[in-house]
Order: sequence, then C-alpha cells, then structure tokens
Amino acid sequence: MNLLAELRSRLHRALETFTDAPDSFVEMLKPTADGKFGDFQANCAMPLAKQHKQMPRDLALALIAKLDVADLCEPPEIAGPGFINLKIKTERLAAETAALCRDERLGVVPVTTPRTYVVDYSSPNVAKPMHVGHLRSTVIGHALYRILKFLGHNVLSDNHVGDWGTQFGMIIYGYKNFRDDAAYQQAPVAELARLYRLVNQLSDYHELVAKLPGLLLQIPLKEQAVASARAAVSPTEKDSARVLKRAEQDLEASREEIKSAQKKIGEVESSPPLKALADAHPQIAELARKETAKLHAGDVENKRLWDEFVPQCLQALESVYQRFGVKFDLTLGESWYNPMLAGIVDELKRQHLAVTSNGATCVFIDGNDAPFIVQKADGAFTYATTDLATIRHRVENLRADASLYVVDSRQGEHFQLLFATARKMGYDKTEFRHVSFGTVLGEDRRPFKTRSGDTVGLESLLDEAVANARKIVDENSPHLSDADRGRIAELVGIGAIIYVDLHHNRDSDYVFNWEKMLATTGDTATYIQYAYARVCGILRKGEVDAVALRQGQHAILLSTPQERVLALQLNRFGQAVAEVAVDYRPNLLTQYLFETANVFAQFYGSCNVLKESDEALRTSRLLLCDATARVLKQGLDLLGIGVADQM
Ligand code: ARG
Repeated sequence: MNLLAELRSRLHRALETFTDAPDSFVEMLKPTADGKFGDFQANCAMPLAKQHKQMPRDLALALIAKLDVADLCEPPEIAGPGFINLKIKTERLAAETAALCRDERLGVVPVTTPRTYVVDYSSPNVAKPMHVGHLRSTVIGHALYRILKFLGHNVLSDNHVGDWGTQFGMIIYGYKNFRDDAAYQQAPVAELARLYRLVNQLSDYHELVAKLPGLLLQIPLKEQAVASARAAVSPTEKDSARVLKRAEQDLEASREEIKSAQKKIGEVESSPPLKALADAHPQIAELARKETAKLHAGDVENKRLWDEFVPQCLQALESVYQRFGVKFDLTLGESWYNPMLAGIVDELKRQHLAVTSNGATCVFIDGNDAPFIVQKADGAFTYATTDLATIRHRVENLRADASLYVVDSRQGEHFQLLFATARKMGYDKTEFRHVSFGTVLGEDRRPFKTRSGDTVGLESLLDEAVANARKIVDENSPHLSDADRGRIAELVGIGAIIYVDLHHNRDSDYVFNWEKMLATTGDTATYIQYAYARVCGILRKGEVDAVALRQGQHAILLSTPQERVLALQLNRFGQAVAEVAVDYRPNLLTQYLFETANVFAQFYGSCNVLKESDEALRTSRLLLCDATARVLKQGLDLLGIGVADQM
C-alpha cells in the first residue's frame, strides 16, 4: 500500500466538510523528516483556520474528529500551532512491510487510468558528433520512459533525429570537395564529422573576416560611451551607475567577441593548408546552403549521398545507445516528415492561422514578439514545420495523451510557440510538455569542453568514465577476476554519468566533476551500487535462499527504531516512483534511493542480522535486507543504471 496516498485520501474525505477544494490542503500532508513529529504530518489546519476565522488548534481538533485513520495510525496528535502528527501503528507497518517483501512490484501500484505517452528524447542531429548536451536528453528521457512504463502507462520512445538539416549540405559540400577516401573507407562517420567541422570552420572564417572590421570600429564608440557615462555618474542618481555598468558590459562583450573572432581567424591563417582551402572556397557558406536546398528539392546525386550517409550515422549512434541500454520504439527523424510539410503550411493557411510577413509564412502568438516561421521566404520549411507535422502524427496516429520533449532549455521559446500553435490548430486535448534541462558546465563554469576545445564527444566521455571507474574497482575489489572487474567498471562508470545527471534538478546547470561523481560515499551511483552489493553479500554469507525466504509467510518484527525507519522508507518506494511522473523529475527517485541506502546503513550499523540468535528476528531482518536490495536494484534500473551482486 502507498501509505501517503492512502492517508491523503482519508484526509480528503475528512476535509470535504471543511472546504469545497480539498486538493491543495491534502498536498500539505507529507512524510516527516524527523520521527519525533510522527511519520507523517499535515499542516493544513493553519491555512484552513484562516479561511474559517478559527483558532488553528480548534480546527485541527475538529478535523481529526472527522479523520478516519484508526486502522492505520495511533491516535493523531496536535503539535505547536496546529500541526497534525500521524504515526503509523507499528503492527500495521509490519504487516504492510511483510506484504511489500512478497510483492513483485515492491509496492509500486500501477496507475488506474493508463495514458499514452510519447517521449521524444536524445534526438541528436546526426552527422555531427553527439555531445554532452545530448547526454542529458538521453539519460533523462530514458529514465522517464522506464518510470512511466513501470507505472503502467503505454509509452513510446521516439528519437526525433535531425537528419534533414543544414548540416547535410555542409557534409555534402565537404564530401564533394575535401574528402579523404582512405579515411572514409576506414571510419566513415569520423570522416564525415571531420568534413562537417572543416566546412563549418571555413564558413565561420569568411563570415568573421567580413565582420571583424565593423566590430573593431565599434570599440572607440563604446569606449566613448563608457567615458561619458563615467563622467555622468552621480552619487545621488542610481540610474547613472546603472547606465555606466551597462555601457561597460557592452564594451566588454564587444571585446570578447573580437577576441573570439580573432582567435578563430588566427586558427585558419596560421595554418597554410587551411588558409589555402579558405582562399579557394570563398563562397563556401552559400554553396553549402545550396547543397541542402538541392537535397530538399530531390537532386539525385545529393539524395544518393544522403542515403549513403544517414544509415552509417545512425549506426554510430547505436554504439552509444547500447552502452546506456537505450532502445527506441521509434526513430522518426526530421526527414520522415518531409512529405507532410507542405500540407501543414496549407492547413495553417486554411485555418487563417498563418500569415505572410516579409515573404515568410508565420504564425503569430499573442504575447510573443518572435514569429513562428513555418516557411521561409525562399520556400524552405523549418524545424517548426517539422515539429507541427510531428505533433499531427503523434496525436492522430499514435493517439498520444501526452507528448514529452526532453530538450535543452535553450529551445524554450520554440516549444512555447509550437505548443501554442498546435493548440490553435485544434490539438488541445494532448498534454505537450517541454521537459527542459540546463547545461553541463566545466570547472570554469563554461559549457563543458575538452582540452582541445571541442564540445566533448560522448563516446570518449564514456570511455574516460569507465577507465576512472576501473581504478576504483581495482582498488576496492582486488579479489575479483579481471573480467568481473571490467564488467563492474562499465556499470560503475556509466552508472556514475547517468546518476550525476539525474540527481540534479533538471532545470539547473551543473559542473561536471569526475571525482565527485565516482565517490564511494555521498550521493552517487557508486555509493548506492556498493550498498546494493553489500546487502547481497549479507544474504550470500548467510546462504539465504531469497526466493524461499520471500514465500515463507514470515512476520516482520520492528523491534528497534532503526528497523521501523527502514520499514517506513521501503514503504515509500511506490510514492517516490509515482512522484517522478508528476512533473517529470527523476531526481526525486535518486534522492529516495540515496536516503534508502543511508537508512539501511543505520539499520545495519545497529542491528545484528546474521549474528542475531532469535530465529524469528533474524528472519525478519533478512527479509528487510532482501527488500532493501530489491528496492535499490529496481530503483536504479528505472533510472537506467545497472548493479552487480558482488563488487
Ligand atoms: N535535433 C534537435 C537538437 O539536437 C533536438 C530535437 C528535439 N525534438 C523535437 N521534436 N524538436 O537540437
């Protein structure tokens, strides 16, 4: 039984005589952090008393008179100004725990009304190397997919790969002009990535060379602005200081931009072969765009190259997905929607939702200055058009009740406009949700880069994680075979990367730190994986037949506070999993697992298990160990993290 949910539903009934809107008050019933306030505490009496113009304690008294929990709880107590403290009867907790120990689902109750979810995640632009930003999408999306599924929803994962964008024009241009045949034969995707970077670098070079003189001209003007703002600063006038600050920031930003432009220009000019390429291809940006346009228009040669490149790129992604255990139900990339785009624009026009502005076809959404462009002046369809076609497919054909987009927070405006447009088109019954996330930062608090300055390639990151994990495993587990240590290092390394990402609130940026993420104590996957292995070790040492133990109909005895706390914690698993799905926040589950590992450590530190002489108590404690192991394993599995019985 999900105790919190049960208590909330009882409270709901009791509240009905006090308010027409019990829901928000019901939410105020929560597990307590400290057992001296009971196991659960409701603080709804205070705001409710305000409404009723009553003393909170009086209202709390009246409320508990209506609260029917005698079968579950000790008599409720009122504390302080009107907190209602609830303590689960120990016999009842023991019985619930015994049931949980036998339950395959460990108390995670399937939802009564399953919904159809589409989870759009990972979704990299193929033919560019996948980077650490796609790591977040992959990890968060995969966890949500597994959790929603385990809760009993009908869930489809869709890898909405970018396989139709401007990067293909760049690669095609690169392939036609700069390819190294031997390298392409040997490692096609690496060669395509090199071509992409090269074309990008040469286009940037010409753009920056053209832009630099203008930037330089601005500097004296901006310096002058700073000087006059400085002269105008007065101690009594707050605004004048602000004007100065803004002018200084503006100057600083221009200087930074110039520095970065000069650096990029320098990189080309200091390399004679690069400079020669740049000189030989002055129109490269324009020509690469033309290659994309030709591809979209059905040019035979470009389509042939595209057909050759895309499967290889997808294959390369697969090797990363395999290491994460990720499999997609659908991989409907942008190209798949290409035939539907003209129809979408027609539909928008037919519904008078789209208008022509500066030659482009746009949807304007109230409250947003930026238009949602669905067809550019040159006739090209956009990312937006594709996403509208995607919505149509998901709603009409996949019958989605909810469509989640696990994408970088920088695309927030796109999704806001997209969802608003979709609702105007009549797709207003589906929940559309941008499950957004922040940036991974390096120690310098800038977006995470490798030493060479590239945004980190994902594969090398995974290899480094596993290599670092191997050192830890070698040190901690010299008794294991080389093959076992290799296998465990993979679990620990990949697990660490997944966990570190999930345990942050997804909206925040976070700083990537190898040492912290692989620490064997603290809020890490490694710590929880070790806790799991430790529990398995106890059962192994006791030569316990876990399956027989679970089926034995043994009683759970909660004879010490630590056993009670552990039992309560295990009974919260169902709640923790369900809470993730409310606002799509996997960190609520990592937090729960970390607490569970801690609570278990306290239990094991103060209660004998194998050495316990009382047979019934020993059995009960073994059952608690077994349930803890299963909860940790199941919980990590829902996050996409593996475990080993022995580490
Ligand atoms: N390919 C995009 C990128 O790498 C993400 C796509 C997200 N999904 C979507 N339906 N827009 O930025």
